[in-house]
Amino acid sequence: MTSTSQTRMNQEHEFGAENYLPLPVVIDRGEGAWLWDTDGNRYLDMMSAYSAVSHGHGHPRLVRALKEQAEKLAIVSRAFHAEPLGPFLEKLCSMAGLDKALPMNTGAEAVETGIKAARRWGYRVKGIPSDKAEIIVAEGNFHGRTTTIVGFSSDEEYKQDFGPFPGGFKLVPFGDIEAMRAAITPNTAAVLIEPIQGEAGIVMPPKGFLKELRALCTEQNVLLILDEIQSGLGRTGALFAHNHEDIKPDALLLGKALGGGMMPVSAFVASHEVMDMFDPGSHGSTFGGNPLAAAVGHEALNVLEEEGLTERSRVLGDKLKRELRAMNSPLITDVRGAGLWVGVDIDPQYCSARLICERLMDRGILSKETHETVVRFAPPLVISEDDLDWAIEEFREVVRELEGEFLPATSASE
Ligand SMILES: Cc1ncc(COP(=O)(O)O)c(C=O)c1O
Repeated sequence: MTSTSQTRMNQEHEFGAENYLPLPVVIDRGEGAWLWDTDGNRYLDMMSAYSAVSHGHGHPRLVRALKEQAEKLAIVSRAFHAEPLGPFLEKLCSMAGLDKALPMNTGAEAVETGIKAARRWGYRVKGIPSDKAEIIVAEGNFHGRTTTIVGFSSDEEYKQDFGPFPGGFKLVPFGDIEAMRAAITPNTAAVLIEPIQGEAGIVMPPKGFLKELRALCTEQNVLLILDEIQSGLGRTGALFAHNHEDIKPDALLLGKALGGGMMPVSAFVASHEVMDMFDPGSHGSTFGGNPLAAAVGHEALNVLEEEGLTERSRVLGDKLKRELRAMNSPLITDVRGAGLWVGVDIDPQYCSARLICERLMDRGILSKETHETVVRFAPPLVISEDDLDWAIEEFREVVRELEGEFLPATSASE
């Protein structure tokens, strides 16, 4: 490691908050699925900034859209109409199969927007008594970091000493339709849920759960709000994860890849009935829907469609899962996921997921553990098959190496 990278890490350490524990690598440049550090070493990005870089780093069409719009008009606020916003919203609604979109910046803001919309709908349409609206969420959820959102997390690490938290949320086990049914009361306005839980470790619900949940919400007059901030826009091998079960939510939360790997762009997308809960003055954001974000978001959607990224994710993701399962290693207790979004459970009695990520980094592959036991693979959807094959081979080598170090000689997979 050169003095430049050490200096940069020291500066972050000295002048920055310690709210992340990054791998010891200082990234300087990115192109497609590849990243380079300040020493000129090359790494395959198997993380994609938690799905925000599905289009790859520096996609030429997105750089062009960003540059052209920046040179013309970047920010005006929503005090005025702006030329690129209308076409972006129209495209977004048409792809989401919903009526109206409210643009924000970060994922957490889209979630907060959904919570506000659901509560108003609960009072104004469903007739829930004032301040009694409930929203049901799932254990293991991750919807962002605002105080309201961490308040309904089931993970103590996210909320410790950040209270008091607002009420009005109920936690039920993820994927348990009977628990969901039991939790619904006449005061339930919405179910807010990730169709596949990303930060929890790419946790899949039982097959058919989303369909049953849709039917339950309709039967009980409860809104179904799907947080597809990480799972949406091709990541799971379908445009949206809910397409795998052919359902339609009442509202959809999008972010991350909507910004084309260029900037934060998020949105709350909903039916007329839900979106009509907002009137002038009731909600907003200085930067939400700014011309730069609208131009980039629009082009991100165009590229996704025109370059067939969803299909790539499905085909390459199937291969990735197949090959990981075929490794048949005692170190690996489960491989699951959809599309190019795969979680590999590591048996903690042998080694940590962090150690695997560090060994992968030494070989030029960047990934990140989640919850100490899961290695996640979520490369940009533009990754080439050759690059993916190479990553799989390197991972196989790391697993063999660790088997040699941590397993008794007789139980190693070779
Ligand atoms: C499902 C989901 N919702 C919301 C968020 C929050 O997004 P942001 O970090 O942009 O606020 C995330 C971030 O990882 C997420 O995975």
